[in-house]
Amino acid sequence: MTAVQPSTHASTDAMRASAGKHLWRHFAEMGEVGRPALPIMVRGEGCYLIDSEGNRYLDGISNLFCVNLGYGFGSEFAAAAAAQYEELGYHSSWGSTHPRAIELAEKVASLAPEGMERVFFTPSGGESVEAAWKLARQYHLARGEHRWKAIGRYNAYHGTTLGALSINGLPELRRPFEPLVPQVAHVRNTARFGRPADETDEQFTAGLLANLEEAIIAEDPTTIAMVIMEPVQNHGGCLTPPPGYPEGVRALCDKYGILLVADEVICAFGRIGAWFASERYDMRPDIITTAKGLSSSHAVIGAVIASEKVYEPFSKPGIHFTHGNTFGGHPIQAAIALKNLEIMEREGIPQHVRAKEGELGDRLRTLLDLPIVGDVRGAGYFFGIELSASRPDGTPFTPEERMQLFGPASLADRLAERGLLSRISIDGDDPVMFAAPPLVADTDEFTTIVDVMTEVLGLVGDEAAAL
Ligand SMILES: Cc1ncc(COP(=O)(O)O)c(C=O)c1O
Repeated sequence: MTAVQPSTHASTDAMRASAGKHLWRHFAEMGEVGRPALPIMVRGEGCYLIDSEGNRYLDGISNLFCVNLGYGFGSEFAAAAAAQYEELGYHSSWGSTHPRAIELAEKVASLAPEGMERVFFTPSGGESVEAAWKLARQYHLARGEHRWKAIGRYNAYHGTTLGALSINGLPELRRPFEPLVPQVAHVRNTARFGRPADETDEQFTAGLLANLEEAIIAEDPTTIAMVIMEPVQNHGGCLTPPPGYPEGVRALCDKYGILLVADEVICAFGRIGAWFASERYDMRPDIITTAKGLSSSHAVIGAVIASEKVYEPFSKPGIHFTHGNTFGGHPIQAAIALKNLEIMEREGIPQHVRAKEGELGDRLRTLLDLPIVGDVRGAGYFFGIELSASRPDGTPFTPEERMQLFGPASLADRLAERGLLSRISIDGDDPVMFAAPPLVADTDEFTTIVDVMTEVLGLVGDEAAAL
């Protein structure tokens, strides 16, 4: 084990004091009271994180659903980065390019669904979404049509830049920044829990597709550039597509000349037990957006992957995609992403996830024995555990009761005290806890996840019953 680099601060408390003064954390309430002292993670080992006070945590959510390979293979990543630094520390992919961008584009195209051969690099998932929307708009324009609108789904997260934020179906994230990019419509997602018990798969799918077609018609189909959806929607709790849905969405997009974008920022690169979830679900998108798993988040890199159909108008002389940035396809980041894909292939990561997802799902479904657990769903290593936000008689908990039962102090902190990191989303309809470990996780990690969740959800269930 290599030593942790010495900090310029003498102690954990000194680091916390400095963080409190200078480090503006993301989506974090800085003045939060009553929470444990800020954990400062200093080391990663496989599926585990270790903080500056020596506490060890199983990372049950792959940090931000992004460290697909976990925290291993450091020396291989370091060697790839070091070799690239020796050779060429930076070059863009604008007027000229460099070998690592070419190699990575070729590698990604070889793993992508058939016919998706064109790879445009970005520095993040949100910027992949942003670029996809601009690409869709300019694609239509290049073919003589002015289409600019997007259709997304309720409760879906697609990033925080103003364009990507406008596509988000999360009112509480959008509200502080309105007015956003106008004319984005939202349609039903594939949340099944709470639907009528006698509704068949066919009826459910037909209802979702009818809702999408109504939205397309209401917005005027000739103005819509793209429909964007995650193959498995994260927010709302790992919402998988019902049978017939991906094909139905594809057919509607074809009927109205709209591009279909699969946002695979989480789903790609093994998370759903395939290189691309859109391939597993036969979604046949025109554009795929990626980031996190492309490098297992060991590098700052994302990619937009486009089909030949989308590329075709841009192949003509005199036209180019009017979009770019300094860091897209950065050689160091590309070298690390290449190394990540090499390791994932060598270790058979998508195959491992596919082989083990049944075991993880079965173990998680034992949580359904707890009265507070309403539903367990997902695919690959991407599961949501929906918690009941109402009493057994159906009366919903008040907002204060919800916070008391499902807020960080009750759930996330208690899990962390027992050595498990998870994420609990309480801003949707019902609270959802996630289980999405690094893709190298195996039976021992599943056991820890389920044991700790069983204990903590048991406590929360008792408290809910006493309210
Ligand atoms: C589906 C999806 N799209 C886009 C994003 C935005 O990615 P980033 O945080 O890299 O901008 C995320 C982030 O979680 C995501 O889950």
